[in-house]
Amino acid sequence: MLSWDDEATSAAAPRPANQTPLGTAEPTTGLGIAGEANAEQVALRVNADDKRIINGKTDVNQLVPFKYKWAWDKYLAGCANHWMPQEVNMQRDIELWKNPNGLTDDERRLVKRNLGFFVTADSLAANNIVLGTYRHITAPECRQYLLRQAFEEAIHTHAYQYIVESLGLDEGEIFNAYNEVKSIRDKDEFLIPFINTLTDPAFATGTVENDQKLLKSLIVFACLMEGLFFYVGFTQILALGRQNKMMGAAEQYQYILRDESMHCNFGIDLINTIKMENPLLWTPAFREEIKVLFLKAVDLEYAYAEDTMPRGVLGLNAPMFKGYLRFIANRRAQQIGLETLFDQEENPFPWMSEMIDLKKERNFFETRVTEYQTGGALNWD
Ligand SMILES: [Fe+2]
Ligand SMILES: [Fe+2]
Repeated sequence: MLSWDDEATSAAAPRPANQTPLGTAEPTTGLGIAGEANAEQVALRVNADDKRIINGKTDVNQLVPFKYKWAWDKYLAGCANHWMPQEVNMQRDIELWKNPNGLTDDERRLVKRNLGFFVTADSLAANNIVLGTYRHITAPECRQYLLRQAFEEAIHTHAYQYIVESLGLDEGEIFNAYNEVKSIRDKDEFLIPFINTLTDPAFATGTVENDQKLLKSLIVFACLMEGLFFYVGFTQILALGRQNKMMGAAEQYQYILRDESMHCNFGIDLINTIKMENPLLWTPAFREEIKVLFLKAVDLEYAYAEDTMPRGVLGLNAPMFKGYLRFIANRRAQQIGLETLFDQEENPFPWMSEMIDLKKERNFFETRVTEYQTGGALNWD
């Protein structure tokens, strides 16, 4: 028997009588042939005004009528940005990595610690979406974006694996770094309780306490994981690319940065819409908890910067990141309607903003136009 009930909707209050799910309708009602719906059936149709991001009661199988057009627009933009890792030529990176004089020891450490975080980070992100966030979101246009985002996370994991494989790195070392390298493990241990909240099969929204838990997990994920924990790593590899080193890896990170800035923006739109629809959740005590989490995340990311760059490398050093992380944390706080956390910080890496803001039809490092060709590889000649 077909039913569009899922855990997210069934966990909330009972469905109103005028929204009888498919399969449980009165025998006399049945499925109408398109164009032959009776007045009673028409009255049961989805009304966009009734849609809610969480605890919604409308049919999650009906994408339209749209209410959250921003989510659909981001889904379309994500599809327009489609790319695959194998489209990027890694030959020059491989030659540089194999040349004993190609990179300094500090640059090699940076690359390995960098990949050590990212090779598992996007699997955490994908699992968080698929096993957690998705089922708690009751707006189908937001779910549509989350499906796209989940595939993009798979592409990112693929990209990191492709770099590890191309360079011939020790897979055991890199993929276990999140267990074995303290600065990476600490970041992941900070995230995991919030992921566990959403993926716990017994967790359901519908009370203020649980809706706040969901909102907190969404904020941690969008603003602190995708919006902060990725930025030391992105800056490092893009700084290598700016010095004509590891250009293939840098090109992939550039595509990933473009995807991630959209994930972060989608998450912020989601958070702000949930706040608007559920103003009771945004209490002073809740905001204070979020502020503490922001401060902790900045400390953890700074410790990671110090560990990956014990000395200055590529014109970068850990203290520069202190300012950068404060700058980003202030911006994320403002984006979700919190006051800034630090005194006004300048952005020490204005070129990163350019990379994020640029329309990415054109590759930053070269002038090649990147066109995605469905079902075929790009021609590199
Ligand atoms: Fe990702
Ligand atoms: Fe992401």
